[in-house]
Amino acid sequence: MHNTMTTRTIGDRRVGAIGLGAMPMSVAGHMPDEEQSIRTIHAALDAGITLIDTADAYTPSHEDVGHNERLVARALSLWGGNTAAVLVATKGGHTRTPGGWDVDGSPAYLRAACDRSLKALGVDSIGLYQHHRPDPKVPYEETIGALKELHDAGKIQFAGISNADPGQIRLAHDILGERLVSVQNEYSPRFRSSEPEIDVCAELGLAFLPWSPLGGIGRTGELRERNSAFIEIADAHGVTPQQVCLAWELARSPVVIPIPGASRPETIVDSAAAASLELSAEELARLG
Ligand SMILES: NC(=O)c1ccc[n+]([C@@H]2O[C@H](COP(=O)([O-])OP(=O)(O)OC[C@H]3O[C@@H](n4cnc5c(N)ncnc54)[C@H](OP(=O)(O)O)[C@@H]3O)[C@@H](O)[C@H]2O)c1
Repeated sequence: MHNTMTTRTIGDRRVGAIGLGAMPMSVAGHMPDEEQSIRTIHAALDAGITLIDTADAYTPSHEDVGHNERLVARALSLWGGNTAAVLVATKGGHTRTPGGWDVDGSPAYLRAACDRSLKALGVDSIGLYQHHRPDPKVPYEETIGALKELHDAGKIQFAGISNADPGQIRLAHDILGERLVSVQNEYSPRFRSSEPEIDVCAELGLAFLPWSPLGGIGRTGELRERNSAFIEIADAHGVTPQQVCLAWELARSPVVIPIPGASRPETIVDSAAAASLELSAEELARLG
């Protein structure tokens, strides 16, 4: 049974108001086996989720770049529902090294990364291609110019940016025009400094995708310590504090589409239900 969910807009697409962050399925030390990952993605889709966020750099090791994209592609190929309604959003611009993570925002690197992502996802054109993180060694306009070329070559249907400040969002919007549809920055009860970026997105009509919306892998329990109102309001509704957290983010602006991560079906099914959790003005005021 495939459920429907309240929807929001990215470009000309309608997607469920809650998306799925696929990263926890490719994190060394946290990673479930492939069968569990596929069940998790299918549970998300069955719950009405139609936005899946991934990246080429989501991989348990630098030797397996594209791991998460291939997992998402495999899960979609095995799902019985309408995959045309699912928007897969990937990213390029972060590199993986034996020691960790780096960035490369050069146009040549992005062109090659996009070609690798097309192959990993098994598609002719990527639904939403996001630049992962600004590279201080490359002028931002050059990096964003590469996204424009990828769009104009038909390799990506929409462009997004991530970890961008208000000035970078405006610059990218000037260069990309309607090709730019989304901004993905960190935002959660413990990390609120993206408020100005949410306002710029609302002004420009861009979707804002909060990353680590529950505080990040292994930190979702911190909601309890941070603000007891999340627990009290959750108890009053008979739901989890994580649902209250996601509903609080949805209430922040109609452009917000949280992408909670999951590596288990239970957690993403619980998070998906936040799309229909209405919080009162009084409850929102208590959550701050
Ligand atoms: N653009 C960027 O630079 C950037 C950076 C970081 C993340 N991201 C994206 O943002 C997504 C979300 O961030 P995140 O995965 O780092 O952190 P998160 O969404 O804040 O937390 C993910 C963790 O929360 C748990 N969880 C999810 N729903 C829950 C629920 N209803 N109740 C209890 N626990 C729940 C999951 O546990 P289980 O694993 O046990 O299911 C998962 O490990 C990522 O997956 C990735 O796609 C982007």
